[in-house]
Amino acid sequence: MAGLNARSVLVTGSNRGIGFELVRQLVGKSNRPEWIFATCREPEGPRAQVLKDLAAKHQGVEIIPLDISEPSSVKDAATRVTERLKGVGLTLLINNAGIARVKAMEAETPEDMSEVYKTNVIGPMMVVQAFLPLLRKASLESPQNGMSCSKAAIVNISSEAGSITNPFLWEQAHVVNYRCSKLLTVNESVQSILKTLSHLSEKDTGTFVNWQGDVLPW
Ligand SMILES: NC(=O)c1ccc[n+]([C@@H]2O[C@H](COP(=O)([O-])OP(=O)(O)OC[C@H]3O[C@@H](n4cnc5c(N)ncnc54)[C@H](OP(=O)(O)O)[C@@H]3O)[C@@H](O)[C@H]2O)c1
Repeated sequence: MAGLNARSVLVTGSNRGIGFELVRQLVGKSNRPEWIFATCREPEGPRAQVLKDLAAKHQGVEIIPLDISEPSSVKDAATRVTERLKGVGLTLLINNAGIARVKAMEAETPEDMSEVYKTNVIGPMMVVQAFLPLLRKASLESPQNGMSCSKAAIVNISSEAGSITNPFLWEQAHVVNYRCSKLLTVNESVQSILKTLSHLSEKDTGTFVNWQGDVLPW
């Protein structure tokens, strides 16, 4: 992924936090992706206003409704993106949306754990499944897809509650799990994510890297 020269990128949970900052920094790059699909649960809600303002200023930034825990929403989002790409593939999928429920063991509940699992594990898996045809298409289009590597890529931004690794995809795309650090500002964290991404290649498939790009054992 040298130089992060992706033609199209989709970021989940991009109305705030790390997801929003990813979109904000991507649009500012000189070799920015032609298409940036910024997804969020409620594009018409107040929490999406800052994203709407950003999209209004930059061509090629499209806000797509997507609740990663709702199968019909995931399917609809994939349909919309497929239509917008008009026959070409999706180069980079960033699974960023997630929730954290930090509780003491005594206070933990099955309901909370189920919600975390549904959002942070099943959600990204459904998103990858839905966008797999577009990612495969981008892999076949290479090098025309604008990436220096020969395949499309999937990046999962992990939470403490776990991440998926998509081993079934490894032959088709790079799958890299990225772990953030609470010691960084959002701006610094995203700078490091994009810098790390730009140095990854096919050999990093299936690895778990931290904010500095170091591979972590897991
Ligand atoms: N910040 C950290 O220190 C840190 C550390 C480790 C891991 N992470 C991981 O990094 C990712 C982003 O973190 P963040 O700090 O930016 O979190 P954040 O500020 O809480 O933002 C989370 C984003 O995910 C979205 N989201 C949550 N559930 C969703 C669902 N079911 N469908 C679609 N979108 C959903 C939220 O949308 P709404 O606005 O609609 O809620 C929001 O856009 C998360 O996966 C998090 O677990 C962060």
